[in-house]
Amino acid sequence: MTIEATLKIGELTVRRLGFGAMRLTGYRPEPDRTQAVQVARRAVELGVTFIDTADAYGIGANEELLAEALHPYAEDLVIATKIGHTRPSPGEWKPVGRPEYLRQAAELSLRRLKIERIDLLQLHRIDPAVPLADQLGALAQLRQEGRVRHLGLSEVTVEQLEEARRMIDVVSVQNRYNLTDREHESVLDYCTQEGIAFIPWFPIANGSHATSVELAEMAAELDATPAQVSLAWLLHRSPVVVPIPGTKSEAHLTENVAAAQLRLSADQLARLTSMGGRR
Ligand SMILES: NC(=O)c1ccc[n+]([C@@H]2O[C@H](COP(=O)([O-])OP(=O)(O)OC[C@H]3O[C@@H](n4cnc5c(N)ncnc54)[C@H](OP(=O)(O)O)[C@@H]3O)[C@@H](O)[C@H]2O)c1
Repeated sequence: MTIEATLKIGELTVRRLGFGAMRLTGYRPEPDRTQAVQVARRAVELGVTFIDTADAYGIGANEELLAEALHPYAEDLVIATKIGHTRPSPGEWKPVGRPEYLRQAAELSLRRLKIERIDLLQLHRIDPAVPLADQLGALAQLRQEGRVRHLGLSEVTVEQLEEARRMIDVVSVQNRYNLTDREHESVLDYCTQEGIAFIPWFPIANGSHATSVELAEMAAELDATPAQVSLAWLLHRSPVVVPIPGTKSEAHLTENVAAAQLRLSADQLARLTSMGGRR
């Protein structure tokens, strides 16, 4: 089957196999800085044009690392960041959607990333304690001021997405989704229908697909690795999908990026899809 190599997110064109930078900082065993910088640079050398980060990753350290590795940024590189999900203590996450906090968070992301405008700013989580209109209003204001080019959401339902779209232009949704975890199938279908980029996090189920016996069989057929088959399934699943596999290993990075070249037959796609997953 043929698949699209790129996707337009708003006015930005990206290659569909992206990179998730989260594990380059704050995750044990943490790679040393030289290695982490090298992995980020290698991603771009391999042709990645979409990198996902967040202010919460390493509490600012992840954005700083990307700036150290990649600034001044290549013309075609899109760095998407996220705000609104805080780390009160290690292992704890808490949404904070107060407008003044979101504004300050965006300003700090701009400073750490060393940019004048964020290409894609995603609300990491909707804060149930704050009216949605207030949270989105803060993001819309930043956009109006030219501090943000495009807005996205993360971990939302179709209902929340529809409500948000009545207030702002949403160009992307980042929800947990992969071959074996399809809880957000309806959100992906909605995004496909509406032409909204869908950025699945946990695209290879935290690495567990790399050792899947079921995937190993198909991988052998395709002369590929199980992780590549898992990523190829995502790319074939819908043209709006932009997977962001995360790794601190250059070897895994190279393997993951090469998955964009893999082509599944209609039969292989159907067999993989029927492996099912949690819904
Ligand atoms: N929006 C949200 O709420 C949210 C939540 C979590 C994550 N994210 C984003 O999603 C991105 C990806 O998520 P993730 O990193 O949690 O999950 P993932 O990409 O499914 O899995 C990453 C894990 O898989 C391993 N791995 C990667 N490639 C491999 C390969 N080819 N073979 C074997 N193992 C491999 C990595 O270990 P090695 O380092 O050893 O390769 C790492 O432990 C993150 O970087 C972040 O940007 C977003």
